[in-house]
Amino acid sequence: MLPQTPEEIEQIKKWDKTLIWHPFTQMKEYEQEDAPVIAAGEGCYLIDIQGRRYLDGVSSLWANLHGHRVPALDEAIREQLKYIAHSTLLGIGNVPSVRLAARLIEMAPPGLTRVFYSDNGSTGVEIALKIAFQYWQNLGKNTKKRFLSFYNAYHGDTLGAVGAGGIDLFHRIYGPLVVPSLKVPSAYCYRCPYGQDPRSCSQDCFSAVERIIKEKHEELAAVIIEPLVQAAAGMILWPRGFLSHLENLCRRYSVLLIADEVATGFGRTGKMFACQHEEVTPDLMVLAKGITGGYLPLAATLVKEEIYQAFYADYKENKTFYHGHTYTGNPLACAVALANLQLLEENRVLEKLGPKMELLSYLLQEIQKEEHVGEVRQAGFMVGIELVKDKDTKEPYPWEQRLGHKVILKAREKGVIIRPLGDVVVLMPPLVITEQELIFLCQAVKESIQEVTSRWS
Ligand SMILES: Cc1ncc(COP(=O)(O)O)c(C=O)c1O
Repeated sequence: MLPQTPEEIEQIKKWDKTLIWHPFTQMKEYEQEDAPVIAAGEGCYLIDIQGRRYLDGVSSLWANLHGHRVPALDEAIREQLKYIAHSTLLGIGNVPSVRLAARLIEMAPPGLTRVFYSDNGSTGVEIALKIAFQYWQNLGKNTKKRFLSFYNAYHGDTLGAVGAGGIDLFHRIYGPLVVPSLKVPSAYCYRCPYGQDPRSCSQDCFSAVERIIKEKHEELAAVIIEPLVQAAAGMILWPRGFLSHLENLCRRYSVLLIADEVATGFGRTGKMFACQHEEVTPDLMVLAKGITGGYLPLAATLVKEEIYQAFYADYKENKTFYHGHTYTGNPLACAVALANLQLLEENRVLEKLGPKMELLSYLLQEIQKEEHVGEVRQAGFMVGIELVKDKDTKEPYPWEQRLGHKVILKAREKGVIIRPLGDVVVLMPPLVITEQELIFLCQAVKESIQEVTSRWS
């Protein structure tokens, strides 16, 4: 039941601040803010306990695809509840997880044949890393124990994923706790780590990754990459061809390729999976977030057959993958994931995305003209708007000014919920957002940027 009286509403708001430790949030700051407490959803809107409506501009953390309270998805959960909410996959099966695995394999890049479930993107990554590591051990290639990843990478918050992460603000403090990966600069073209101009560059990022793989391949178990977009770093786009270049290098030097499609999967970039833009089949592919349409926690790590076969042996050979979570393959989550995939297909959601992506590009061009917008980056429905103090010199704002945060608070006043990554304002609306809603979203963001930057520059 929703809180009804002003007293109940106040109580909930107070407990939200005093009992809950919010993720990625400085609570001292949160206490001072009048953050909405969401009570309901409708289509692309979130509704707080005071009845205020907000456009869900980041798909409830990059997960929602079809909006909120979608009858077919609600019904899939109710239907599954008639049978069972949860049973384990450790040593026994359950119906929805089997059906979903068949569907995922059908949709995935060809060659991925087996599905290992978990609950969220981080655990999906953790599983990919552990499988890649053990794969080489099982084959008796004991030198291949390290991972290669990229600066600016984000693969989740569990310790294995943090070891592969490359965002100082999030990851540096845990350095002593993790096994660090080898790291190579990513292609942040706006601030090229090689000091090049993207219009005339000699693609040093391509040669840098080639050099390190050539030199270290005997130590390397796998390379992990967010295909097409380094999302949490601020929607940094890889240059075209980088992913297939990496795939070629991995093949040439016998290094596994892990594609972390947690953020990019299920249509976010305009294709079902980002790897499909360059016809790449990774050895392992991690899916989460949009897999359930943003309804329930679920992740899947897909692997190629030859990887699976390296674990397939008599028990006494000790090649079993000893990993699993209590809710691995949860039937309710798998049931809603299946309904989500069916809806993507039946409603031709990706086909309808084309004109909306074009409209979004057009609206973003207007935002790009703003005095303090350094760069706007877009891959389909994933957008990063980088704010700078000085557009000519690309000088950032002092980080403690928290311009990105100020912009999202302003946008909230205008009825839009978004979340920044530092001074990059992120937009990632549900795929079913209407053209009118997209216009409203971009207008609110543009005005918020104008109002905040004119005050703080
Ligand atoms: C590329 C990528 N990998 C992994 C994760 C971690 O996913 P989760 O938050 O579900 O653990 C994220 C989350 O944003 C992500 O963007």
